[in-house]
Amino acid sequence: MKTLTQNTLLLDALKCNNHSGRPPVWLMRQAGRYMPEYRAMREKHDFLSMCHTPELAVKVTLMPIEQFDLDAAILFSDILVVPEALELGLRFDEGIGPIIERPLASSKDILNLPNISVKEKLSYVSTAIKILKQELDVPLLGFAGAPFTLASYMIEGRSSKSWSKTKKWMFDDPESFHQLLDILADYTIDYLKMQVEAGVDAIQLFDSWAYVLNHDCFCEFSLRYQQKILNGLRDTQIPTILFCRGSSVFAPLMVEAKPSAISLDWNADIREMRNRIPKNIALQGNLDPDILLASEETLRREVQRILSKMRGEPGFIFNLGHGITPQVNPDQVRVLVDTVRGVFSL
Ligand code: CP3
Repeated sequence: MKTLTQNTLLLDALKCNNHSGRPPVWLMRQAGRYMPEYRAMREKHDFLSMCHTPELAVKVTLMPIEQFDLDAAILFSDILVVPEALELGLRFDEGIGPIIERPLASSKDILNLPNISVKEKLSYVSTAIKILKQELDVPLLGFAGAPFTLASYMIEGRSSKSWSKTKKWMFDDPESFHQLLDILADYTIDYLKMQVEAGVDAIQLFDSWAYVLNHDCFCEFSLRYQQKILNGLRDTQIPTILFCRGSSVFAPLMVEAKPSAISLDWNADIREMRNRIPKNIALQGNLDPDILLASEETLRREVQRILSKMRGEPGFIFNLGHGITPQVNPDQVRVLVDTVRGVFSL
């Protein structure tokens, strides 16, 4: 049994103090349907039971760590366990994705949300973290969804292209929308504090749908609550990563929330972003996830391209701009990781 985090590359990079000569590498959705072992487990268990059962969540979290030389693990769970804990009903339908069974229809429904103890309702997450900390020799990332993205699911009931119900509510009745975001921010602070107490080494906050917002609405309805959460965690000193889809446009604004790192999508030039974002904030990401579908040679070249743009940067974490897709061949993940670790060089 291991009790020490021996590989500190990720934590060094989050402090912009990695002088080891190569960046740490981990991948969003590194445990998922692209892995045959994951699919085999999914034949026996549904996705939510896997999230709810610490032994299974631990097993899945460790799957990619055992196979690839990744520098961090991310807890296997989902951002939607928070709306589930708020008793809105959650299921995952094959081919559709997440479904909130009792979405919020009006501001009255906000008042009817139950008053819950996150620590009690989501204690299975804490149990999984404690077991993982005994098993891992790389840092463990915890995570949560940011309020705007959680609210979007709670209003729409499922993934949407336009998020038009959410935006209509936001424009017509900003006061109750803020009330909802504020409640979600408070629960998220409790939830992330619970994860920190259980032992995670860093956390990532996902505001996946913030990119549907215009500039001013992003500041008012997304960034403000990211900032509230990071401020709420400040006394724990936990390193924090902010992820938004659309981060190419919003990254310079996200600096205001004072995260340890900003996770970039693949639309921006990471070198240019490095010049714009203060040097005490690390950068993560930027590889187009679909490059994993290309030939091995192309993949290696594109990984090298980002590595050379960021050579010598003490605050850089290699990652994708968004999660790995189910069609990816696991051999390509090995090629990516080995290229970052310098096993291959062109
Ligand atoms: O990154 C990781 O490996 C950690 C685990 C993780 C999952 N979901 C596992 C998962 C994390 C960090 C998430 C976050 C999450 N979940 C987000 C934010 C990140 C993003 O992708 O933008 C969002 C929006 C969700 C909500 C969600 N969960 C959706 C939209 C879906 C369906 C997606 C799909 O590809 O079908 C999920 C399901 C989900 N979450 C799976 C996994 C491994 C697939 C479940 C399955 O086995 O069918």
